[in-house]
Amino acid sequence: MATELLSPLLPQRQGALAVVVAAPLLALLLAVVFFSRSPVAAPVSESSPELVDLILLAGAQEKGAVCLDGSPPGYHLRRGFGSGAHSWLVFLERKMTNFGSSKYMTAVNLNGILSNDHIENPDFYNWNIAVIRYCDGGSFAGDAEGEDLDGTKLFFRGLRIWEAVVDELMVKGMDAAKQALLTGCSAGSLAALLHCDNFRGQFPHEVSVKCLSDAGFFIDEKDLSGERSMRSLISGVVHLQNVREVLPNNCLQKKDPAECFFPAELIKSIITPTFILNSDYDSWQIRNILAPNGSYPGQAWSSCKADIRNCSCTQIDVLHGFKKKLVSELKVAEDNNDWGLFIDSCFTHCQTPFNITWHSPISPRLGDKSIAEAVGDWYFGRRQDVKLIDCEYPCNPTCSSLLPTA
Ligand SMILES: *[C@@H]1O[C@H](CO)[C@@H](O)[C@H](O)[C@H]1NC(C)=O
Ligand SMILES: *[C@@H]1O[C@H](CO)[C@@H](O)[C@H](O)[C@H]1NC(C)=O
Ligand SMILES: *[C@@H]1O[C@H](CO)[C@@H](O)[C@H](O)[C@H]1NC(C)=O
Repeated sequence: MATELLSPLLPQRQGALAVVVAAPLLALLLAVVFFSRSPVAAPVSESSPELVDLILLAGAQEKGAVCLDGSPPGYHLRRGFGSGAHSWLVFLERKMTNFGSSKYMTAVNLNGILSNDHIENPDFYNWNIAVIRYCDGGSFAGDAEGEDLDGTKLFFRGLRIWEAVVDELMVKGMDAAKQALLTGCSAGSLAALLHCDNFRGQFPHEVSVKCLSDAGFFIDEKDLSGERSMRSLISGVVHLQNVREVLPNNCLQKKDPAECFFPAELIKSIITPTFILNSDYDSWQIRNILAPNGSYPGQAWSSCKADIRNCSCTQIDVLHGFKKKLVSELKVAEDNNDWGLFIDSCFTHCQTPFNITWHSPISPRLGDKSIAEAVGDWYFGRRQDVKLIDCEYPCNPTCSSLLPTA
């Protein structure tokens, strides 16, 4: 459905050839990442302990801070309590609601790093939790307008949504924060990197502010056929949505804007302490960057993409190559004392918003730490130099096949 919605916009901007290449890829980013069900918006059981209401942004239209279809953006806010009353965690959602519209957003159930249960979430359970819903199709970074083939106006206002929602949160008490953490997963995690220093800048110097990127470390790697599918996809979004403003200047001087949108470039200019959490056999990246449909003959990779346990030795070797590249691109983070890393070799994608991955008896562990423990150790400085990088798949016995892969 995203292809129908967005590919008609490309011809005017990029020429026919680019459209042929970019349209299926746009569908990937805008459909796979955004148009599926949200992890926090998954159907919840009646007995669910904490459904958190949707709040629509006030004055959205006047600020031009609107979803793809012009509807006001939405977010969820659960107030902190006790020692967490002045601590704020802002989470940028990863999957876009249907048709990029808040008309389809509902209350959500918050798990993992967003849970208010201290067993599930030992360090952040009593913080103020703000979850900003995703409806702009461009990682909260664009500022443009477009038109669908039938003349329907489309709004690419991710940057304005980011700014307006943060302003509203400040009015609702975030201005008095004593500590804060900006995070998100997948496309939302890329957004957390893009806006990390801007978020830091909202607070006085003495406030502790850090960023956590979960499953957003997309790498600029060629696919199996040697094409740069991911870069073409990013290039489409960068041009369609006009995201230049949030990209680092020192990168833009040397490289194409699409290259500057990749985390490997972004992390070179981020000055706020940041934690990178990612699997180096990330299921989304393997399916969509390394082995997208059409990049290999027939069904050769279908079963391996569906379940890493079904990969042949030759395929595993290719995946090891992907891991090597991803880890090498993290060098900047590895060398920075204030930064943290948790790079596990489990076949999964997004590990903070689920109980099972974040902190449970079967969550992935590195150095005997769950992700929640490692992130907490880093955030609160309980341990120096939290830089955990896993060995090659299938070396880690804590990688469960029950982990979510989409
Ligand atoms: C890729 O192909 C598989 C199997 O043919 C299909 O189920 C899947 O939806 C396709 N993925 C995309 C992103 O088109
Ligand atoms: C993985 O391999 C097993 C055993 O050969 C098979 O039963 C299963 O269907 C395969 N899974 C996928 C997703 O192809
Ligand atoms: C996650 O943990 C919370 C708190 O124990 C529980 O209420 C919730 O049902 C769990 N969510 C899932 C999806 O298992």
